[in-house]
Amino acid sequence: LNTLRGRDFLSLGDVSPAEVEGLLDLAEDLKKKRDAGGVAAPLAGKTLAMIFDKPSTRTRVSFEAGMIQLGGHALSLNRNELQLGRGETLADTARTLSRYVDGILIRTHSHATVVELARHATVPVINGLTDRFHPCQALADLLTLREKKGRLAGLKMAYVGDGNNVLHSLLHAAAATGMHLAVATPPGYEPDPEVVAVANKIALTTGARLSLFHDPAAAVRGADAVYTDVWASMGQEEEKERRIRDFQGFQVDSKLMAQAKEDVLFLHCLPAYRGLEVSEEVIDGPRSVVFDQAENRLHAQKALLLTLLG
Ligand code: CP
Ligand code: NVA
Repeated sequence: LNTLRGRDFLSLGDVSPAEVEGLLDLAEDLKKKRDAGGVAAPLAGKTLAMIFDKPSTRTRVSFEAGMIQLGGHALSLNRNELQLGRGETLADTARTLSRYVDGILIRTHSHATVVELARHATVPVINGLTDRFHPCQALADLLTLREKKGRLAGLKMAYVGDGNNVLHSLLHAAAATGMHLAVATPPGYEPDPEVVAVANKIALTTGARLSLFHDPAAAVRGADAVYTDVWASMGQEEEKERRIRDFQGFQVDSKLMAQAKEDVLFLHCLPAYRGLEVSEEVIDGPRSVVFDQAENRLHAQKALLLTLLG
């Protein structure tokens, strides 16, 4: 894990399978310690600056609470409160913030913005979601699956829906941990082939399997877990009507879940839209672990903060 100290966390594709496992072990340990009455303050005196160009409930609150629980502090900023909103460059913002704080989290539209920020910052930069990746979410998802199933290698997860940021990071996550990820998207909504290629390269070293379908039932057959996400992500509001039409037949409902194993888990990164990508019955039913996933954002990110900033 020492190999992650001081590094950026922009994509899970840059993190080795051993580092992913190390982060999950540390997260599990931190979760146990909190249940047992708290940990010391290993990040005392450290500050995380958080820049949000898009709304957030889980990412914002779990990072802020996590920093406080580790003895540090977090500042939540939006672009318009910064001179960034008035045209100061990202490079100058990165150089300036690096003189004050120990890490920078950013949630923004273009992944290139995060890469640019990281290039000029001298402290670790954490990707809190871009149009391309959501690595903190995938880490929490792995933690949740490992906790519930006792292992990751050899598990089959099906992802049904849009080939978006959440799926891209799940492809890296499955590849790093030797899972089988079966993806079903409508034609035209497949994951980026470049991301799939990187994930397949990692998969060669772990025995993971990644397969792409256009038929939800084919992907879900025999799955240990079924994952979905919104059909229209933040920034795609004007495409919503078209997407709802294009995603007909891709709702995760009881009928689709019946194709999976009996003890299948239902995952969703949240926020969710009941009646669109998932039926109320499934997300609010006994197989759903969506709030465990949300909780595990906290534990997984504390492990990340401790490793990068510690
Ligand atoms: N899953 C997730 O990142 O949630 P928020 O958008 O609320 O941060
Ligand atoms: N794909 C969604 C995830 C939200 C956490 C989005 O980018 O809006």
